[in-house]
Amino acid sequence: MLTLDHVTKTYRAGAFGGGSVTAVDRVSFTAAPGEVVSLIGESGSGKSTIGRMILGLTGVSSGTLTLDGQRVRPGKDFYRRVQGVFQDPFSCYNPVFRADRVFDLVRRAYHPGVPDKEWADRVEKAVRDVRLDPAQVLGRYPHQLSGGQLQRLLIARALLLDLSFLVADEITSMLDASTRIDVLNLLAGLKERGLGVLYITHDLALGTYLAEKTVVLRRGRIVERGDTHKLFGNPLHPYTRTLLAAVPRLNQPWDPPQPVESCAFHEAGPPATTDLYETEPDHFVACAQLPDCGRTPA
Ligand SMILES: Nc1ncnc2c1ncn2[C@@H]1O[C@H](COP(=O)(O)OP(=O)(O)O)[C@@H](O)[C@H]1O
Ligand SMILES: [Mg+2]
Repeated sequence: MLTLDHVTKTYRAGAFGGGSVTAVDRVSFTAAPGEVVSLIGESGSGKSTIGRMILGLTGVSSGTLTLDGQRVRPGKDFYRRVQGVFQDPFSCYNPVFRADRVFDLVRRAYHPGVPDKEWADRVEKAVRDVRLDPAQVLGRYPHQLSGGQLQRLLIARALLLDLSFLVADEITSMLDASTRIDVLNLLAGLKERGLGVLYITHDLALGTYLAEKTVVLRRGRIVERGDTHKLFGNPLHPYTRTLLAAVPRLNQPWDPPQPVESCAFHEAGPPATTDLYETEPDHFVACAQLPDCGRTPA
């Protein structure tokens, strides 16, 4: 179980390091094994910072972040269980080496004792598990493979570890629509294996596809979170509503979303409070005045 409890990240900013930016402000949520949590919000809202803190790539300024009750401690044992896959798969490969070198690195670090034949079998199985044909992808150079294939190889690499949690940061952003669905189906498969997944996206339509929980972030603060069906069936925060309205529906004419309506609790910016209010079981919203603040959009 991944648990974030009032997790805050403040970056030093400004020419002389004098200023600071609170990129993530007292964020709390959990992700259980076998559960996909989607983290949604516009660019700059702090999503990647949360992913990087979970992966131990950046420190937590305050609050606690634990996996199975233990604090994140980057190192070999930790990365056996927690891995990240990111938006641009090309950046994870060295163009002068064959793409399957990423598997060799895993072998060297984590499975040095496995004999060649057995290792080759494991790699083939992992590659098949991500629905790639080993004959078509192994031995190729990154430029000979598509973005979707490279992305899937990275997921296959993660499968060669005893993974319990995967951070997937905008992994479908660079893929075309049909490949995107394939990768999402893959994540659904990981979930069936009992992995927890943090699915970070700015694209609300896809995030809802497989997540049981949704966390909506705005400028570092959670504006609404809860059971995906409840949240999207009955979105309470104007920001969530705006996100929903921005999803084009094929059978309806385009109706541009209106800007977020201001209110004492959710101005133009982030909510004025980081306290969340439970409006129904498993459905939390940032404005303590909702649902009857009287200023929510119809
Ligand atoms: N290393 C850093 N140093 C200073 N500010 C940063 C750093 N990384 C991110 N930020 C700032 O933190 C905020 C959140 O960024 P990020 O987590 O990348 O958001 P998102 O992934 O939602 O686009 C942004 O204002 C960004 O400029
Ligand atoms: Mg990001």
